[in-house]
Amino acid sequence: MSANYDTEWRARFGEEADQATEAAEIPWLRQLLMRRTHRRYAPRPVPEPLLRLLLGAAFSASSKSDFQQTSVIRVADPARRGRLAALVPDMPWIGNAPVFLVFCGDAHRLERIGKLRGHGLENGRLEGFFNAAVDAALVLQTFVLAAETAGLGCCPISVIRNHAGAISEILELPDKVFPVAGLCRYAPPREQQRAPETFGYVDFYGWSEDKARQAAGQPEGQTFPLDLRARGFTFD
Ligand SMILES: Cc1cc2nc3c(=O)[nH]c(=O)nc-3n(C[C@H](O)[C@H](O)[C@H](O)COP(=O)(O)O)c2cc1C
Repeated sequence: MSANYDTEWRARFGEEADQATEAAEIPWLRQLLMRRTHRRYAPRPVPEPLLRLLLGAAFSASSKSDFQQTSVIRVADPARRGRLAALVPDMPWIGNAPVFLVFCGDAHRLERIGKLRGHGLENGRLEGFFNAAVDAALVLQTFVLAAETAGLGCCPISVIRNHAGAISEILELPDKVFPVAGLCRYAPPREQQRAPETFGYVDFYGWSEDKARQAAGQPEGQTFPLDLRARGFTFD
């Protein structure tokens, strides 16, 4: 059966964009086109078997060379959650979302496996870092899609990278394991124009204005390279 996806296509890419041609009816593709990051959450706990299933699905993501360089840390201990939340006081949902996971690039694992098999290897070069970062991003997004398919909303939290040193210490990360993003569900601040004190208010405030303001504002991740070098990466 063929179908058109014009409604979903326009919702994603704008009123002027039609999908133009018909294609097979695949409900999951409709869901993908309509997917959104969720920033409001219900206090309902996520059932343990479902969470385990979602993690299994997420770890089914493709992996560079099948090196499997992702680790996911579930932060369940209230004291640790509290310490993480205290790093970002304007995002209290980091402390109180039903589930908070930290998706890490794990370049340490391959070195550990090398040691186990008696083949020394060093994985702290740019290649090792990059592969681990890409793997972690793929597991993160696969988790998000799996969770959305199960009716759960998610929001990645990259702001934790602005505190990579403290996060590594709180989560006791070994060298060459680094946070890519946290993941929780949360309620957003009121819809508003970004940094009006610098950029003023405009009548039409769309995606390009918001992204240009965001990228031109306070730079993010300035300490990240230093944190990574301190944790064993050379980037050679
Ligand atoms: C790696 C990564 C980090 C993100 N970090 C944040 C974040 O710190 N805070 C936030 O509100 N959204 C965050 N997001 C969500 C994006 O803002 C969102 O995906 C983007 O605006 C597109 O919206 P959509 O997912 O609804 O299509 C992040 C997304 C990714 C992939």
